[in-house]
Amino acid sequence: PIPVIIDCDTGVDDALALLFAVRHPGLDLRAVTCVAGNTDVDGVVRNTLTVLEIAGAGHVPVARGAERPLIEPARSARHVHGADGMGDLPGLPTPTRAPADVDAVTLLHREILACPRPVTLIPTAPLTNIALLLRTHPDVVRNIERIVFMGGAVATGNATAVAEFNVWHDPEAAAVLLTAGVPITMYGLDVFQRVVVPGPDVRRLRASADPAARLAGDLLAHRPATPDADGDDPGGGIGDAGAVCTVVDPAGITTLPLPVEVSLAPGPTRGQTVVDRRPRPGESEIHDGLRPRHLVDVALDVDVNRFVKLYLDTVEGTAQK
Ligand code: BDR
Ligand code: CA
Repeated sequence: PIPVIIDCDTGVDDALALLFAVRHPGLDLRAVTCVAGNTDVDGVVRNTLTVLEIAGAGHVPVARGAERPLIEPARSARHVHGADGMGDLPGLPTPTRAPADVDAVTLLHREILACPRPVTLIPTAPLTNIALLLRTHPDVVRNIERIVFMGGAVATGNATAVAEFNVWHDPEAAAVLLTAGVPITMYGLDVFQRVVVPGPDVRRLRASADPAARLAGDLLAHRPATPDADGDDPGGGIGDAGAVCTVVDPAGITTLPLPVEVSLAPGPTRGQTVVDRRPRPGESEIHDGLRPRHLVDVALDVDVNRFVKLYLDTVEGTAQK
């Protein structure tokens, strides 16, 4: 199996990502680290431990990370993820274990270097922990296979007109990631928003006898997409879980290596990922000389049916390696 570590802000769809990662036989989930984002970091830790326990993965180490972005105060996403960050689902159990006694950066460093094979890191949250890791322990880069992050957008944003939430929440941290010199895949809003599980499948999951599949169904029902042709059966987006799908099935997305920069300026573009899709350098580069351009494999298209099937087969326990 592919060794992976998820850095998350659980988070309704982070929970969907964790359930998928635990269940897929081709993935070896070695640790989960938590960061402030959708809710405060203690809430993220609690939610993460709860989800792992329900999925039968109470052995996976979990660590608490940054409680705010590098520069700005934390801003929660209660309007999307509920007061508890998990959609305020009734009856969620309180976790029976505590997080690791080391912080997220220490756990990431330790687990990445201890792994016999290079690790794929999957951040599905603001990139604060990852930036701190890269600045504190730059030696981790030698045992990172790739960083597949959910964040950014080529086209429209969600937190603002042009900025996606994870990058907008900590733009400086995202800039550190994008210049880290490791292979990066950007699973941005352009693909993120398209992978929607149809309503009948969500209903089947919600009726499952398996607690993990049932939780996935309840979480998906909290993320209604636009109504389908009948107008009353909206289904639910897998969100962050799509970034994990790309690790087991990279052919499910279409990527292009493109230069990506984060807008750090105050004002309406702060947190925007500026993706350069021009076929050749523009006027400014011709006049001023080329600046170093950091290429990122940007996901531009996704095979929606393929990822929906992969997600359902995995969470319902019928996926092949
Ligand atoms: C991202 O922000 C969070 O709300 C989701 O969990 C996802 O990681 C989408 O912009
Ligand atoms: Ca998230």
